Amino acid sequence: MATVAELLQPVEADLDALLADLRSLIGAGHPILQAAAEHLFAAGGKRLRPGIVLLLSRAIDPDGTLGSRHRRLAEITEMIHTASLVHDDVVDEASTRRGVATVHSRFNYRVAVLAGDFLFAQASWHLANLDDLEVVKLLSRVIMDLADGEVRQGLFRYDTGQSFETYLEKSYCKTASLIANSARSAGVLAELPQPRLEDLYRFGRQLGLAFQVVDDILDFTGSDQQLGKPAASDLAAGYLTAPVLYALEEKPALAGLIEREFCEAGDLDQALALVRGCEAIPRSRALAEQFSREAHEALQWLPASEASTALLALPEFVLSRLY
Ligand code: IPE
Ligand code: IPE
Ligand code: MG
Ligand code: MG
Repeated sequence: MATVAELLQPVEADLDALLADLRSLIGAGHPILQAAAEHLFAAGGKRLRPGIVLLLSRAIDPDGTLGSRHRRLAEITEMIHTASLVHDDVVDEASTRRGVATVHSRFNYRVAVLAGDFLFAQASWHLANLDDLEVVKLLSRVIMDLADGEVRQGLFRYDTGQSFETYLEKSYCKTASLIANSARSAGVLAELPQPRLEDLYRFGRQLGLAFQVVDDILDFTGSDQQLGKPAASDLAAGYLTAPVLYALEEKPALAGLIEREFCEAGDLDQALALVRGCEAIPRSRALAEQFSREAHEALQWLPASEASTALLALPEFVLSRLY
């Protein structure tokens, strides 16, 4: 199975240029905020979201070329994503991200909140400068969804009565909305017809949901070092993700441990063992596989090219992170 770097190879040079551009876009206005943002960009994420925008932009262009507005869209997408991570780590009080200290642990909480705001604001400014009202609407909606998703997640902490639907809505808001709407925006800038825009949106949404379910599985099965961020932390924080919601159906004892917020010694370990020891992980994997298939189906119409081959392999790659 290909690695993410191999899959993104058709846009590797574009992604390198993007990183350099991002650094200059952030500007030198506020040295401390710049340093904070730079800190995470330098640590290097997978660059999956801008990679998708760049691959799509090339795949839907008749000549396979990449325009400056599509480039800028990819930059805005990574900026919004990084901003959301900085704030998510504050909310989670997480110590590491991308294998390095989180912004609030490297600097402090005040700097992290401001650095996240600063990145969202920069993204909004560059978004407005694309001068396409439809794209402005799509991506400003994403910023609303991100905040909405964090709030929802907080409201349902330790709530064993929450529905699977609630979990999927939260996942859409926190993860799928950005991928779906940036994919759609790439189509808007290329003036694709409405049904194709719907396909791009559906691709991004289903891929995003698959990606989040996989991330939620890895929280139970991965190590800190593998993930570059603290593992086994969702359940401890009271975030009930797909594996836990499935496990609750099989192991009624789990509900009691969660509801008393793991206050007695050994509660958390016992709960983790219950989730890991039942059908919850395989069932979550099946769910991610279904989303991944739907993402793949949404792009069948793409004309053959190096970029479209990579895009069609992406849903499978997202799943391969599990093996
Ligand atoms: C992290 O996204 C947030 C989730 C949606 C799970 P990534 O795993 O894509 O993070 P980076 O950008 O590669 O660090
Ligand atoms: C991912 O949610 C989406 C955002 C960060 C906005 P998670 O909360 O699962 O991400 P990680 O696990 O902290 O990377
Ligand atoms: Mg988190
Ligand atoms: Mg997570």
